Amino acid sequence: MSYWNAFEKVTDQCHHETLMNDSTLLNSTVLELPLLARGKVRDIYDLDDALLIVATDRISCFDVVLPTPIPDKGRVLTQLSRFWFKQTESIVRNHFLTMDLELAVGHWESVQSLKGRAMVVEKAHRLPVEAVVRGYLSGSAWKEYRQTRAVCGIALPAGLRESDKLPAPIFTPATKAPQGQHDENIPFERMASIVGRERAEAIRRISLRLYEEAAAYAAKRGLLIADTKFEFGMCKDELILIDEVLTPDSSRFWPAAGYAPGRPQPSFDKQYVRDYLEGLRWDKRPPAPPLPLDVVRKTTEKYGEALQRLTGSPLPSPPGRVSSDNFSAA
Ligand SMILES: Nc1ncnc2c1ncn2[C@@H]1O[C@H](COP(=O)(O)OP(=O)(O)O)[C@@H](O)[C@H]1O
Ligand SMILES: [Mg+2]
Repeated sequence: MSYWNAFEKVTDQCHHETLMNDSTLLNSTVLELPLLARGKVRDIYDLDDALLIVATDRISCFDVVLPTPIPDKGRVLTQLSRFWFKQTESIVRNHFLTMDLELAVGHWESVQSLKGRAMVVEKAHRLPVEAVVRGYLSGSAWKEYRQTRAVCGIALPAGLRESDKLPAPIFTPATKAPQGQHDENIPFERMASIVGRERAEAIRRISLRLYEEAAAYAAKRGLLIADTKFEFGMCKDELILIDEVLTPDSSRFWPAAGYAPGRPQPSFDKQYVRDYLEGLRWDKRPPAPPLPLDVVRKTTEKYGEALQRLTGSPLPSPPGRVSSDNFSAA
């Protein structure tokens, strides 16, 4: 089948799927509120001192947003972040305010369908660094290690293999790249010059603590957290945890069963998407090709499994849907 035939077939399928599952969301619309930004995954609305963060079902791969949504993904991300915000609040204060949209904005028709995927949070001044913690050697850290035997200026023992567990978790900050570009790993000293030394040290200490607690918790549930990224912001002179926390989009989760260093591990959530895209002759630059239905379906399953494994609960039914048989119409 030619690329274009495949494209049309997939587009047809997805159009059909969109009609069959009306809780799937690619772009949100809340006309009552100013839209501050559409990120790769989330839409951000202004509520003066607060923000309404809507996790859509958009998925990005190789830093490019795909045209095909992943049903349930946004709700999984929101529920998981909610879970972790609660779980970690004794370590650091976070931006979470409420998921009760009636309470936050009132009974608006436009927000009814956003229940379960939207979160009201305190507005913060985002610090321009990504606080990355790694417990295993993967991704850009593996690349850097092979070239310099160090990651972000942290020297590591010789002879480590790809996906090896590190002797201890390391803090490897990065600068946030503009849309479409890749984040750049930076040494701690550079981070200190960007946000101030004291703040950088606080962020490092808190991030390592968050990672260690979460990794120990996840291990009991059969998941390894290879690495994860936190974001911090300032709220009236106080450092707070913002954005999303320990979701499949901000972390590499690996199933503990089958973990074998010396090669890349299957990515828990986006593996099907990556495999599919790697098999196409696509140059990884926008626009991205659409995804076929079986890839979409398996990816939805994986996000749901991450939620179930970590929280012990399945995804609640979306507003207005009685049963959770998402794909019964396929
Ligand atoms: N409490 C907050 N205050 C200000 N900005 C925030 C807060 N929480 C998250 N953000 C920002 O909102 C955006 C979330 O949307 P997302 O789709 O993740 O964007 P991105 O493509 O930049 O990853 C990010 O830019 C994040 O830094
Ligand atoms: Mg993000």
